[in-house]
Amino acid sequence: MIAILLLISAVSLLYVYLKWTFSYWDRKGFPSAGVTIPFGVLDAVRRGKRSFGMAIYDLYNSTKGPVVGMYLTLRPALLIRDSQLAHDVLVKDFASFHDRGVYVDEKNDPMSASLFALEGASWKTLRTKLSPSFTSGKLKAMFQTSNDVGDKLVAHLDALLPKTGSQKVEMKSLMSTYAVDIIASTIFGLDVDSFTDPNNEFLQISKKVNRNKVTDIIRGTALFLYPGLESLFVRIGWKQEATERMRELTHRTVDLREKNNIVRRDMLQLLLQLRNQGKISTDDTVWTAESSKHGTQSVSKDFIAAQLFLFYVAGFETTAATTSFTLYELAQNPEMLAKAQEDVRNAIEKHDGKLTYDAIQEMKYLEACVIETTRKYPGLPLLNRICTEDYPVPDSKLVIKKGTPIVISLIGMQRDPEYFPDPLSYQPERYLDGNQDYNRAAFMPFGDGPRVCIGARMGKVNVKLALAKILTNFNLEVSKEKREIEIGVHGIPLMAKEGIPVVLSRK
Ligand code: HEM
Repeated sequence: MIAILLLISAVSLLYVYLKWTFSYWDRKGFPSAGVTIPFGVLDAVRRGKRSFGMAIYDLYNSTKGPVVGMYLTLRPALLIRDSQLAHDVLVKDFASFHDRGVYVDEKNDPMSASLFALEGASWKTLRTKLSPSFTSGKLKAMFQTSNDVGDKLVAHLDALLPKTGSQKVEMKSLMSTYAVDIIASTIFGLDVDSFTDPNNEFLQISKKVNRNKVTDIIRGTALFLYPGLESLFVRIGWKQEATERMRELTHRTVDLREKNNIVRRDMLQLLLQLRNQGKISTDDTVWTAESSKHGTQSVSKDFIAAQLFLFYVAGFETTAATTSFTLYELAQNPEMLAKAQEDVRNAIEKHDGKLTYDAIQEMKYLEACVIETTRKYPGLPLLNRICTEDYPVPDSKLVIKKGTPIVISLIGMQRDPEYFPDPLSYQPERYLDGNQDYNRAAFMPFGDGPRVCIGARMGKVNVKLALAKILTNFNLEVSKEKREIEIGVHGIPLMAKEGIPVVLSRK
């Protein structure tokens, strides 16, 4: 009898708790949608039907108005649907939204203290320190390393394609291999060739980062939605294998460089400068990183590992997806393909027949293609912030409370016909002189404001490099049928569900 009473009380308490939690937006006077207890808008994710970003995209499409209250499982969060309000949150009123609100514990878990996760003054100081690493001059100095990876991509395709005739090539996995090698070499400073050696350590670790086991999903959800829970997991010593292996690999590489005074032109080298000299040189020709006379080190090896790992996570899928979606779209749009080929040819001719960093910068039409890809297929389909002080929504009586997670659906805004005419058609011309008939505030494929993507320039160079290599060395066959690529159901970055097939032949 007591057991039954206890059970009834527990069920009643749970009922009251859920009703209270899922009435948050009604109580605050905000419009809300997707109120499915207990997963909220993420119910489609739980059912394996949609990825996180696409579930939010569905909500964006099925609602109206500037703001919509939603529930990310038990956490009330606010979807911003209005481009001007999104701009205010990211740029004008950054002071009220300067953090992302994801798990970070600088003191006890240095691997969590990445630029993406850090908050307030700690984030600002680090952003200022890291900014000199991403200048055009630094990227130009690293370009040869990326170019070598591009050559390996060409050699691989050369070996793969038949002597005569064409062949279907699966771009998603090919470009993932390219992106892994670009990051391994330009960021971690490793000499790898995943095209010929698929068993190399970096690729193996990378596969562990990108798997979708239940435990990975639990940790990913905790990281973004329940930082307190993630903190608990870390405290009880529940380690994540990929993070541990990236950490260990970074330690080994740092030791090797420091012991042997090796100087390479890559991101790790610049972080070693920060470690040993207290800052990253603004002189793009200076790459040495010996320690100062006092021998003090301003940042730990774990700190370096945290930033390198973040650069991997932030740059890998985005680079691979942007490159493969661009090729897919060019194969569907023969006029644009012809223009892109001509643009690449002209720029290379102007630079003595060489595919240099400066030649890449001159490929303006190709740049417009890449940008149009990031509009239609934003590598990161959403932006997130947390409200850091109560914020009155302009022109309304609503107040966003401190601590509220904010989500901006990039794919929603960038495919919204209100902001971009004919949003599903691929039109690089949108960005060329005189055109620009779209809503500027709604266009932010690399985010916006002080926390905009720090690696945007690097990402674009590496995407353009792979495209230029393929367009100059191979023929891209125009597709016979037009078809939208279906988006996958896992992870946060935007990925194709199946492969991205294109047909290539030798020139
Ligand atoms: C095509 C390639 C890429 C795309 C589409 C992309 C997109 C984005 C987006 C949308 C954000 C969020 C910005 C915001 O919240 O306002 C972001 C942040 C970030 N990205 Fe990228 N990214 C790319 C490549 C890269 C690369 C290559 C790196 C590093 C090597 C990188 C490093 C970062 C970092 C560190 C942040 C967090 C910045 C901060 O909080 O201060 N990204 N990226």
